Amino acid sequence: MTIRILVNAALLAIPIAVTLGILFGLQSHRDATGQPPLFAPQPPPIPTPAPPKPPKNGVTKTRYCQKSFGITPDTTGQKYILNPNQWNWNVGDPGRLCMNVTTNNNGTYPTSTTAPEFMISWQYPVGPEDDPVHAFPNIQVDTDVLPATVDSISKVDIDIEWSYGVGNETTTASSLADLTADSLNTNVAIDMFIDSDKTSAQNPAKAKFELMVWFAAFGASTQPIGFGQGPISTQKLGSDTFNLYSGINTATKQNVMTWYTDTPIEKFNGDISPLINSVFKLTATTDLPKSSDYLGYLALGSEAFSVDKTVTLYVPQLSIDIETSST
Ligand SMILES: *[C@@H]1O[C@H](CO)[C@@H](O)[C@H](O)[C@H]1NC(C)=O
Ligand SMILES: *[C@@H]1O[C@H](CO)[C@@H](O)[C@H](O)[C@H]1NC(C)=O
Ligand SMILES: *[C@@H]1O[C@H](CO)[C@@H](O)[C@H](O)[C@H]1NC(C)=O
Repeated sequence: MTIRILVNAALLAIPIAVTLGILFGLQSHRDATGQPPLFAPQPPPIPTPAPPKPPKNGVTKTRYCQKSFGITPDTTGQKYILNPNQWNWNVGDPGRLCMNVTTNNNGTYPTSTTAPEFMISWQYPVGPEDDPVHAFPNIQVDTDVLPATVDSISKVDIDIEWSYGVGNETTTASSLADLTADSLNTNVAIDMFIDSDKTSAQNPAKAKFELMVWFAAFGASTQPIGFGQGPISTQKLGSDTFNLYSGINTATKQNVMTWYTDTPIEKFNGDISPLINSVFKLTATTDLPKSSDYLGYLALGSEAFSVDKTVTLYVPQLSIDIETSST
């Protein structure tokens, strides 16, 4: 009985295999000649040809208008993550923001730490007084150097040139008077996070300390936390003067320290590590970070509050070079 079944199965198996072999053969012929599939109820996905590679020279411009999206352009040097980061805005809400990124097709930039050129165009109405910020579009350094203990950081070189202009995707700077006339409320700032825990330091929502360096503040609403209490320290970098304000962000419970400038600094090329290190020498009553804590996150961006007409932050030049004593 058992033997008979086995024999029959073996005999049957041959014609089935032959039939399938013929069908598969026909199928691959039809595939190759671009004819519709013969028997597949679910046709195999037709491989879409890869888009033609842009020529190796030249640039590619891409516009990102989504709520939030990390973009990491190909590069032979240090990586950056760009993000429209409209964290306090949802699709359908009034206002909009787009980020335009210009990448070099060869992935090579003037220096190994040069970022792709970008611009951020936006317009939002005035938000609630206790919740006025709509977005923090930014470019974050994606480097192996971070997280690093602050006392191991030997320099944080920032080479930046930026302008704010009235208009959508404009590279033309507007005067302070014109920006004020359009009720622009925003800043241009470096945002850093510090924590005694390596992992929390990399998470802007979890880190205990936020340390900012503002290159500009536009509009009366754009005030650092603790502005009303007055500065707790002053420091000069080259010809630029920064005042330090400090306070607790009631929403996140983070201790926020902000180096603030009265006059917009549209060009800056220097080491900001003195602004980081002097924080440890403060004798404030509030909880302060220690130099053995980790710096886990560093980004440059613009806190977008509100404006009457579309404005554009244009950043044609940016390089962020963080080095530690071990690098
Ligand atoms: C890479 O492309 C940019 C933009 O076209 C160009 O300026 C630069 O010279 C190129 N670099 C190299 C090494 O080919
Ligand atoms: C913004 O990006 C789009 C492509 O997504 C491009 O067509 C447009 O020219 C860019 N704008 C500027 C001012 O570069
Ligand atoms: C700027 O113009 C482009 C092209 O018309 C448009 O897609 C984009 O939404 C505009 N951006 C803003 C912030 O209005």
